[in-house]
Amino acid sequence: MEYRCEGYIPVLSTPRLKLRRLERADAEPLFEYWSDPDVVQYMNVPPFADVGETAEMINWLNLLAETEDTIRWGIELKDSGRLIGSCGYNSWQLEGAYRAEIGYELGKSYWGQGYMHEALLAMFEFGFNVMGLNRIEALLYPVNKSSVRLLQKLGFQREGLLRDYQRAGDRFVDLDMYSMLRREWEQRSGANA
Ligand SMILES: CC(C)(COP(=O)(O)OP(=O)(O)OC[C@H]1O[C@@H](n2cnc3c(N)ncnc32)[C@H](O)[C@@H]1OP(=O)(O)O)[C@@H](O)C(=O)NCCC(=O)NCCS
Repeated sequence: MEYRCEGYIPVLSTPRLKLRRLERADAEPLFEYWSDPDVVQYMNVPPFADVGETAEMINWLNLLAETEDTIRWGIELKDSGRLIGSCGYNSWQLEGAYRAEIGYELGKSYWGQGYMHEALLAMFEFGFNVMGLNRIEALLYPVNKSSVRLLQKLGFQREGLLRDYQRAGDRFVDLDMYSMLRREWEQRSGANA
């Protein structure tokens, strides 16, 4: 993974992908993904209603990057320039914790091709080696099988079920906590070098 600092959101480059700041022009493709019930069902957000709402969210995410509360990257295919989804650290804290929580999604037509695996590898390398994280965590709906498979392949471990952890519409939902620690990442990176 190579990276280049540009403002608050660095550009991360992998063999097939460019992870970069989301722009207003991304609202159209992102709206397609964020309004798809199959994509958002485990993201604890209702499907987006229109492109304008999506553009507002892009703006909000970029502002949150300036205050170092969030980093959200757009995931672009290098060969076509097409935006296929997004990923990032929903929240992160250095002093006193050195940990961050991730979130991600791909448009449905891009599932099953290893794109998120490739994007998250770059994001983790940046998180551990540049941001200085010690722990990266993910909160998953236990039924979100493709996400569980993805994170387990990347070396995440399930820690346990958090009961009634989030409000989703008119009910509370249980979420599984998964994590990977810096020392586990280093072991895996060493083994793969
Ligand atoms: C979670 C999500 C990104 C996973 O997508 P995905 O396509 O399964 O994940 P990847 O892009 O890493 O692809 C992995 C799959 O591609 C296959 N693959 C094909 N080519 C590959 C390659 N070059 N490298 C790695 N995997 C490859 C793998 O075998 C794997 O398939 P498998 O799951 O059947 O074993 C997708 O299901 C999604 O967007 N869901 C909705 C949003 C969501 O739930 N987000 C999580 C909430 S935090």
